Order: sequence, then C-alpha cells, then structure tokens
Amino acid sequence: MRNTVAVMNTKGGVGKSTLVLAVAETLSAVFRKNVLIIDSDSQASVSAMLLSASNLHRLQSDGLTIVDLLVASVLNNVAVDWPRFVVGGVSDVDEARTVYLIPSDMQLTLFEREVSKESLHARLRTSIGALLNHVRGVFDVILIDCPPGLSVLTESWLREADFHFSPTKPDYVSTCGLEVFRRFKGLNPEMGFAENLGVIINMKDAQSSVEADYQRWLNENADNKLFAQTVPRTSALQHASHLSPVERSYMAKYPGESSVAIRAVCQELLARLDAANAKEASASAAAASSPPVGSEASS
Ligand SMILES: Nc1ncnc2c1ncn2[C@@H]1O[C@H](COP(=O)(O)OP(=O)(O)OP(=O)(O)O)[C@@H](O)[C@H]1O
Ligand SMILES: [Mg+2]
Repeated sequence: MRNTVAVMNTKGGVGKSTLVLAVAETLSAVFRKNVLIIDSDSQASVSAMLLSASNLHRLQSDGLTIVDLLVASVLNNVAVDWPRFVVGGVSDVDEARTVYLIPSDMQLTLFEREVSKESLHARLRTSIGALLNHVRGVFDVILIDCPPGLSVLTESWLREADFHFSPTKPDYVSTCGLEVFRRFKGLNPEMGFAENLGVIINMKDAQSSVEADYQRWLNENADNKLFAQTVPRTSALQHASHLSPVERSYMAKYPGESSVAIRAVCQELLARLDAANAKEASASAAAASSPPVGSEASS
C-alpha cells in the first residue's frame, strides 16, 4: 500500500511541523493508526515537540537520528538496521501510544553539504527509497516533515514518497510558496514525483474576508486539490508544540474547534489515501487483464 507522505511547502512558518504533530497524534489517538514521523528538518522542530530536551539530546549523542542513518547508508555505503533509529513512546498525549519518530539533528545540513560535494545524489535517493520501502509495510501512515526550501534531501523525499500534502496560510507569500513548489514538480517529470494529496489551509481566521478570498482562489485551481476542511488559528494549536512534562488527554491538548478541525482533516486525508490506492489498484488490474499490444496480429 502507498502510505508515505511528505509534508511540504517551500514557504517557512506555514504550520508544516504543527500539522505533522497534530495529524500524527490524531491518527493514533482517534483513528487507531500506527504512525511514523520522519523528521527531515535540521532544526529538529517536530522531534522537540515529541521528545524532552534530554531524551532528544541523548539520541543525538548516541548517533540515533536520521543524520546517522543517512551518513551510514549514503556516505559510508553500509547496510543500515533502520528499526534501531525508530523511537516509540513519543508524544505527550496518553491515548496516542502508536506514534513513532526518527528524530533529526542540526548536523543534517553538514550531511547535505557532503552529498553535494561528493555528488552522491543518486545514492541518497536510493537510500531514501530503500528506507521508505521498509517502513511502508510496518506503519499505516508515514509522515515526513520537510524543512522550507528545496534541499537535495527534500528533493529525494519528494521523488521517492508516494504522496505529498502542503499546508499553507491563506496569504500572498504562502501561496507563492505553493507556486514555486508546483513549478519545481514540473521540472524533470521523468525523475518521478510524489502524488499531490492536497493543500490544507492552516491558521485560518474565520472573520477575515481577505483570507476567504485566498481560500476561494486556491479552490478554483483544481490542481491544488484543496481540502474542504481548514484549520483555524487557535491557541491550543499554537501551544501544541510545547511538550508537556506530564501526559495529558487528547481533548486536553486539542480542545474544541482544534480537535474538530484536525479530526476532519485526518478523515479527509485517510479518504484521499484510500481513493488514490484504490484507483491505482484498479488501473493495475485493468492493465493486467488487457491483452499485450500486438497479440492479435501475432496470433
Ligand atoms: N493552527 C494554528 N494556530 C495557531 N498557531 C499555529 C497554528 N499552526 C501553526 N502555528 C504556529 O505557527 C508557527 C509556525 O508553525 P510551524 O513551526 O509548525 O511551521 P513550519 O511550516 O513547520 O515552519 P518551518 O518552515 O520553519 O519548518 C509556530 O509558532 C506554531 O505554533
Ligand atoms: Mg517545520
């Protein structure tokens, strides 16, 4: 099943990491899914949202981050025991016991420099593809938190993952970020690219007519596949990034309209994943049952 999803907008600060966190915790706590988050941002934002500073620091010191996994596989060209890098029991939501994480580290930037310097882009892409192949069969949904901008690593995720979705703020600069992303996707189509699952409007102010105009405009372009559900700007979502030292209930972390919106986003996300997989399955079945080209002439 295709279930690997890169979360991407070339614009920073649109809520990529916050939505990765909230969607993963909701898929686990409410929809009972096993979710793996791969933190591909050198800032390690989502890792810090899921792990205490001391635990994150220990994993970084012990060489158990995405950087160490990629250094071994890409720079040192050795086989990697990928489950060693997956941390369970993350999240401060007591019902979200099936969220797993491959954490990140600042050193990711140096790793990317080595890849470019040694022209190891092909090996990077092969390693990313192999990792995604492994995790596809183990987890229900895999979310890759990408940094803003278009790095060599982000490009590899986008070419090897099955899908991407893009959070955006309903404003001018964030929607420009989507446009840059769309143009990037159009370059070198022969190299493969994740399928668009849709654009999600985040930090929406229900009272703003300007934001409503941006929503209409995004909706008019069918390529965006805009999610029907928008995510409001709420203080609960703003503070979701602060890991609580004690576990709390899902409803304590995401009260009221925050949980209503994120649950609806998850429902839409799961429906879109199912629909995309069903479409591919029926296309493969049709291809398998149709006669090979030229069979009539040769019989
Ligand atoms: N729905 C929301 N309501 C209120 N605040 C939000 C919401 N979503 C995100 N934020 C806040 O917006 C800021 C940016 O969010 P976040 O770090 O998730 O964005 P990002 O796209 O991952 O940023 P970067 O590009 O730097 O990785 C954070 O302070 C976060 O708490
Ligand atoms: Mg982020």
